[in-house]
Amino acid sequence: MSNPERPELAGNQPPLNYPRYVSTQLRFPSRPLIRLPESLSDLNAPVYGWWPIGEADTDLTRHHASEPQGERIIVAGRLLDEDARPISGALIELWQANAAGRYRHQRDDHPAPLDPNFTGAGRAITDSKGRYRFTTIKPGAYPWRNHDNAWRPAHIHFSVFGQDFRTRLVTQMYFPGDPLFAYDPMLLSIHDEEARQRLVSRFDLSLTKPEWALGYAFDIVVRGRNATPFEERV
Ligand SMILES: [Fe+2]
Repeated sequence: MSNPERPELAGNQPPLNYPRYVSTQLRFPSRPLIRLPESLSDLNAPVYGWWPIGEADTDLTRHHASEPQGERIIVAGRLLDEDARPISGALIELWQANAAGRYRHQRDDHPAPLDPNFTGAGRAITDSKGRYRFTTIKPGAYPWRNHDNAWRPAHIHFSVFGQDFRTRLVTQMYFPGDPLFAYDPMLLSIHDEEARQRLVSRFDLSLTKPEWALGYAFDIVVRGRNATPFEERV
């Protein structure tokens, strides 16, 4: 199902029903969408997590007694609108598998080791220039049973909140050069190649810390022709 209200997005946003991504068929809306009336209380409603965010929230390698296993990385970028203007004060959350491709989640039974020093979740508020920055470890690829021998490319899930609950956008960031791109229905559900590339982070030497971590840049554009593809956007 494409988005009937946003025909200009056809091709650069994933369809809600994409048969090769099997579980979309179980959850895409089969009836016309209902637009909820907007009220003042909606716009002023608090969003999840507006308590102060500390340094530990943006450094996923410091949530436990010791450091997690894996390749330490810095992921940083900007949150932008359709005119490339920065969006400040936005809550960005991320979650990810550990270096072995395993989530700390009861439904993840992938036979890869859990890491006692890695939870895999973080959050940040964009600064006055729309910037965010996380320190984490590079996640591993993992199998997901969508089809025979299905593996997800290494990725980090991102959520961006606007000023109320209904303006949450969710997407995934990938790493450049992953050989699994060509086999991933989730990524291939985005028809437009340029739009797919907007989900792939860019290795950025200036973000690296010598003797410490590699760096990847990932900007998120919330609207417009250069918008980042988002999941289940309606
Ligand atoms: Fe995932």
